[in-house]
Amino acid sequence: MYHKEQKSFPKEFLWGASTSAYQVEGASLEDGKGPSCQDVKSVPEGTTDLKVCADHYHHYKEDIALMAEMGFKSYRFSIAWSRVLPEGTGTINQKGIDFYNNLINECRKHQIEPIVTMFHFDMPAALDKRGSWSNRDSVDWFLEYARVMFEHFGDRVRYWLTINEQNMLTLLGPVIGSFYMPENCTNQMKEIYQQNHHQLVAQAKVMTLCHEMLPDAKIGPAPNISLVYAEKCKPEDVLAAQNYNAIRNWLYLDVAVYGTYNHLVWSYLEERGACPEFSEGDAEALKNGHPDFIGFNYYASATVRENNEMENDGEPSDQQSGGGEAGIYMSCSNPYLAKTEFGWEVDPVGFRATMRELYSRYHLPLLVTENGLGAYDKLENGKIHDFYRIKYLKEHIKEIQSAITDGVAVIGYNPWSAIDLVSTHEGMKKRYGFVFVDRDEFDLKTLKRYRKDSFYWYKKVIESNGCDLEYQEA
Ligand code: BG6
Repeated sequence: MYHKEQKSFPKEFLWGASTSAYQVEGASLEDGKGPSCQDVKSVPEGTTDLKVCADHYHHYKEDIALMAEMGFKSYRFSIAWSRVLPEGTGTINQKGIDFYNNLINECRKHQIEPIVTMFHFDMPAALDKRGSWSNRDSVDWFLEYARVMFEHFGDRVRYWLTINEQNMLTLLGPVIGSFYMPENCTNQMKEIYQQNHHQLVAQAKVMTLCHEMLPDAKIGPAPNISLVYAEKCKPEDVLAAQNYNAIRNWLYLDVAVYGTYNHLVWSYLEERGACPEFSEGDAEALKNGHPDFIGFNYYASATVRENNEMENDGEPSDQQSGGGEAGIYMSCSNPYLAKTEFGWEVDPVGFRATMRELYSRYHLPLLVTENGLGAYDKLENGKIHDFYRIKYLKEHIKEIQSAITDGVAVIGYNPWSAIDLVSTHEGMKKRYGFVFVDRDEFDLKTLKRYRKDSFYWYKKVIESNGCDLEYQEA
């Protein structure tokens, strides 16, 4: 649908950007922080370690000042569970509380709304030793951690996100470095979906707790949602797209919003003997937990076709290559879409289609918690001419406006990432930030911050509340 006139962005629109603790903070074992699964995972030789990252832990004031200079209305960051509770449960690390208090206060000082992700791929290593999300007690661990956060930060944090990309954790755990599998497990798939179930129950209980403890706060999930297209109008391709949409997207949101498992996914799990076991009270907990909005990360759409029984399955290597499964779906590339330097498809129109679909299914306000372009940025004479990023962001912002004009309630845009940080599996070379951090994969250099061209452009976008998206290529 083409509109003759676009609606404006709402006055209170949350323009900002995102980071996550284990990718940006550094200080991975400083001031009493316990290790997370990310700090103890075995990494292939030649992979950036996570001890320093962008050193946000020590530069947070400077970083928030840069965000304020861009005019941010919001900053989405995550709290490292093991910085607050080094063992995952029990003793609180006061220095960890102090750090997040300072960070939140710094945001507030600049009128930046903190949007806090509680869990972003960084399970405390001590809890991994106790069985991670496989252990039914993980529901109580997460509740205990949430209570600590609500008690300490709830007076100043109004927006909470439960679990970042739970769907990617479930589908791509090994790629993200957060994979846990008990020894002697005989049905890996069942185990993975049992972990997923514990996360869903934990999330539901935490949403309920949030509403009890902080009646004015808002809380929601933050999955990675990519609308899945059928490669052709061949009916079997359409079924494959429905299958992958259900497995990749709707499972997570149907449970979060409606408290019930998606029927397509349930029957898929049933056939594989992989349905999760419900403990007493789980069904009720799922029904009782309600999100106030849907946070979601979007990088691009996905495309699939039918996968007949004879076809080999493809192993997904990251969030963009969905792999495939015999009889269910087979990922394929979309000939209508360009790709980034890192091979990720770019689909701004798919962003609008995803927002329309999300709103039609769930009727809840949408908060964009990630979106962005990873690239090999170059620092030349103190400047970074990242017009490719500006182009990507501009096209996506335009589609938000179209979705708003379509009648979709979108409350904020927080692309990835506020400043450069370490990618999940591509190190420091794949940059997303508005601010360049002067370090290489292995050479920490000066860690000095430089404003990229996208920094100045985004400042203008925010100032004009999304009216002025123009830019001049350098
Ligand atoms: C999202 C994650 O999947 O995508 C982030 O929430 C991640 O943690 C981002 O960094 C970009 O992915 P990548 O693999 O390019 O770092």
